[in-house]
Amino acid sequence: PTARFVMPDGTERAVDVPDGWSLMEGARRDGIPGIVAECGGGATCATCHVIVDPTWYEVVGAPPDTESMLLELASERGETSRLSCQILMTDALDGITVRVPESQL
Ligand code: FES
Repeated sequence: PTARFVMPDGTERAVDVPDGWSLMEGARRDGIPGIVAECGGGATCATCHVIVDPTWYEVVGAPPDTESMLLELASERGETSRLSCQILMTDALDGITVRVPESQL
């Protein structure tokens, strides 16, 4: 499945993310700026924060409480913020669109 990362300047990068990989892993492999992922997917650093397109947020769903607490550390937290390391790609998420916060660049 393909994920779309919208950069702060409005440009879009499409990334093929293998089924079962996290969005963060796909972004790191393709060198998407702003997805640092310091903790390597352990859900402890919040440097993989993305703002999910509202339409897709309905599919992805709200974060569990532990993730939500960590997202408080992320700058530019939005109503549809998620940690990209906690979103696992499946065909149901093909085309998912997320925004990379400017402060993470
Ligand atoms: Fe650290 Fe996602 S990579 S919280």
